[in-house]
Amino acid sequence: MNDLHRAEMVDHELAEAMDKLVIVKSAIYTSGECDPREPPPRQDTAGRLHLMGHDPRLPKMPNKPTLFDFFKLRFGPAEHMLQSARLALRNGCDEKVILACLLHDCSAAGFIRADHGYWAAQLIAPYVDQEVAFAVRYHQVLRFYPDESFGYKYPESYIRLFGPDYKPEPYLDRAYEHCLNHKWYGTARLLTVNDLYSFDPNLHVELEEFTDIVGRNFRQPAEGLGFDDSPSAHMWRTINWPTRYL
Ligand SMILES: [Fe+2]
Ligand SMILES: [Fe+2]
Repeated sequence: MNDLHRAEMVDHELAEAMDKLVIVKSAIYTSGECDPREPPPRQDTAGRLHLMGHDPRLPKMPNKPTLFDFFKLRFGPAEHMLQSARLALRNGCDEKVILACLLHDCSAAGFIRADHGYWAAQLIAPYVDQEVAFAVRYHQVLRFYPDESFGYKYPESYIRLFGPDYKPEPYLDRAYEHCLNHKWYGTARLLTVNDLYSFDPNLHVELEEFTDIVGRNFRQPAEGLGFDDSPSAHMWRTINWPTRYL
């Protein structure tokens, strides 16, 4: 079977699977594009079942997915996180900071952008040292506040992205104050120092460079992420199977 034939078969199988299924989007995927006060658009559901498992449009995850499976199949190219982790490694940071860099934007990459540091921290909290989760949580806010003693300036890209008049909301000021007075402030700050904003599109970093650091510092559950009944297992399941009806 040649590649074209194989691609046609896959297209055909996908079209057949889609014909048999009702696949709806969660309100959060469409809120803004659609008015969340209005009922969702009606689909013709006659003779079809509502999707309750794997979405046939997505690459299938293994039955016991690992962190790296999520990186490869759900977190996009993830180059930004890999380059940040490489930079932390080169800068001689300890493994907690390198791991925090590797994981810090996993929510923006594969789950939810808004409040991404908080979501990412919750996703990883059951599996990492709490100092790592703390750093990931507070990178959300520290990015907006300079600290010259670490050589960290307000990012110029934020002026481009959010305008010169953007001011963090009061809840961010409070989170910043809390972080600043915390014993793990330095860890969170080192994450922001190594959080690259102008990453190099020509530099490719292999995930496998971090196999050992992840092995030593991320408690991969034997059942697979999503199936170990941890406090964030449901979030990993949602990333794996994002369009289930319930
Ligand atoms: Fe981030
Ligand atoms: Fe980042």
